Amino acid sequence: MPGESMDMTQLRSQVREELAFSGFEHPNREADLLLSAILQRSLGDIELDHLMGRDLASEDINRVLRATRSRARREPLQHLAGTAPCYGYDFQVGPGVFVPRPETELLIDFGLNFLRGREWQASQQQADAPLVADLGAGSGAIAVSIAASLPDARVIAYEGSPFALPWLVRNIRSLAPQVRVEYGDWHERIHADSTRRFTAILSNPPYVPAGDIPADPEVRLFDPEMALYSGSDGLDDIRRIAQTAAQLLLPGGLVAVEHTESQGSAVREIFSEAGLIEASTERDLTDRDRFSWARYPALPA
Ligand SMILES: C[S@@+](CC[C@H](N)C(=O)[O-])C[C@H]1O[C@@H](n2cnc3c(N)ncnc32)[C@H](O)[C@@H]1O
Repeated sequence: MPGESMDMTQLRSQVREELAFSGFEHPNREADLLLSAILQRSLGDIELDHLMGRDLASEDINRVLRATRSRARREPLQHLAGTAPCYGYDFQVGPGVFVPRPETELLIDFGLNFLRGREWQASQQQADAPLVADLGAGSGAIAVSIAASLPDARVIAYEGSPFALPWLVRNIRSLAPQVRVEYGDWHERIHADSTRRFTAILSNPPYVPAGDIPADPEVRLFDPEMALYSGSDGLDDIRRIAQTAAQLLLPGGLVAVEHTESQGSAVREIFSEAGLIEASTERDLTDRDRFSWARYPALPA
């Protein structure tokens, strides 16, 4: 009952029961993650509170029970906690914005390694601060992580969803205020300034084929459709990104895009057909194709 006094043991078992009843495969683990996220205590502290039979404030009990009802409807835990971690930064998230995934850290790391290397400067025969585009910035996971980790980079976050935009702006303000936002269809916005040439174009674009409805209810019900689907084979946006990269990258510049594990060879082909070189695919920790990259040819020495 809301407001009733409970200790951690009682609350934990009530959360476990409700999540088991609503069909979670691992309700005990889900319950602990929820308690940890809502009470902002580590999993170890939750266990300790249980062993010590710690009493909880009625306000905390009510918050946990409310979150349990939402979680039972498969609302993502990150929405209930209000934040999602990515690359060591906490991004504010909620309805209307794509929740950053751990896999995207691989793309961010790859982009940062490229930008920290000096090879691109030599190929571009210039020493300007690098100019980086994040196409489909969502919460800002890529743009903000790059800008916060590499303060001399000039980073532009392109986002077309009016529902994602407030989250993006909030995260930029608190984590990397130097990031510039361009709101609207990125394919139009990025070509609007014909003088801009990019050192790197990075993207975690929509790449799910239109007919492939995700099995995971958290994704199907709560990730925005605009963040997921991209034409019948899922590659419409990646084709357009390849064309854009071939037109707007500086010599030696990098384009890198995330995709599903089955799209690696198709994406490499798209990059090569657009005139980009060195098209390659990187794998994630489970050895699945995760993102592909290519470069714009360098100027002859
Ligand atoms: C898969 S989400 C990735 C978000 C974020 N970069 C991340 O990795 O967490 C794709 C994002 O692209 C945005 N988007 C999709 N098509 C777009 C378009 N044509 N113009 C601008 N943004 C677009 C969606 O709104 C969504 O925020």
